[in-house]
Amino acid sequence: MTSTDPSMNPGAPATGSRVAALEARSIVKSFGTVRALRGASFEAYPGEVTALVGDNGAGKSTLIKAMSGVYSPDAGEILVDGNAVRMSNPLDAAGLGIETVYQDLALAPDLDAAANVFLGRELRRLRFLTDQAEMRRQTAASFKMLGVGLVQDLRVPVASFSGGQRQSVAIARAAMWASHVIIMDEPTAALGVIQTGKVLELIDTVRARGLAVVFVSHNLPEVLQVADRIEVMRLGARVARFRRGEADVDRLIASISGAYANEVTA
Ligand SMILES: Nc1ncnc2c1ncn2[C@@H]1O[C@H](COP(=O)(O)OP(=O)(O)OP(=O)(O)O)[C@@H](O)[C@H]1O
Ligand SMILES: [Mg+2]
Repeated sequence: MTSTDPSMNPGAPATGSRVAALEARSIVKSFGTVRALRGASFEAYPGEVTALVGDNGAGKSTLIKAMSGVYSPDAGEILVDGNAVRMSNPLDAAGLGIETVYQDLALAPDLDAAANVFLGRELRRLRFLTDQAEMRRQTAASFKMLGVGLVQDLRVPVASFSGGQRQSVAIARAAMWASHVIIMDEPTAALGVIQTGKVLELIDTVRARGLAVVFVSHNLPEVLQVADRIEVMRLGARVARFRRGEADVDRLIASISGAYANEVTA
């Protein structure tokens, strides 16, 4: 049985007071006969971590790809700072200051870590020469900040990295370039305890810089620890949202499984 109380919408922002840095409104996206998103909405605010949770297949990654220029929605709107935007590819999102760590990573395996970090944004010494040394220096500094203990030479292709090391390269890249919104789809899933701690620290740092942080995770204690707000998706739509302190693990599980909702869905 579902208990729905639409009058109570605790995770919703106070009306009129704040504009979301990134918002999805009633997004619909189908893949053939699979309706991955059926009117999905989402909001993330500046200087806050918004966690997006939901069961496998709930549509989280699809929604993130719709908000970062990978997929164009069949219907619905994406807004940045309250203005509707059209993004045809991730470079359009990057132009709006939005960087994403995808669950399926999207690194170039044959390139080294620094080349991946600077892919499409290479530093140049002269017009045609890339400044490899400076790109490696900045990448190494960024890895150091993240606590990425890459034993290998920075010149080896990332294909030879472990899953967790590749994840760290993708996170470092996003953290270096994001100026407005950083979206991380299960960034800690492949990481060990120490690197997970570093990613959570990085999230704090990025939030303190005033960015909106979107964080997908199945680790509910981790979500409760780091998130200012939590939005729950189920079957391609938002079913609940909570502010910090309003949810606990049981309530999140109830929302994820459909036993609880505080949002009316289409
Ligand atoms: N490229 C695609 N082609 C076909 N179907 C897809 C595609 N991407 C996602 N889907 C389908 O859309 C639905 C939502 O998938 P999505 O990856 O967004 O879920 P998710 O919430 O990220 O799940 P998980 O927690 O497992 O990562 C699933 O039924 C999935 O099979
Ligand atoms: Mg996913």
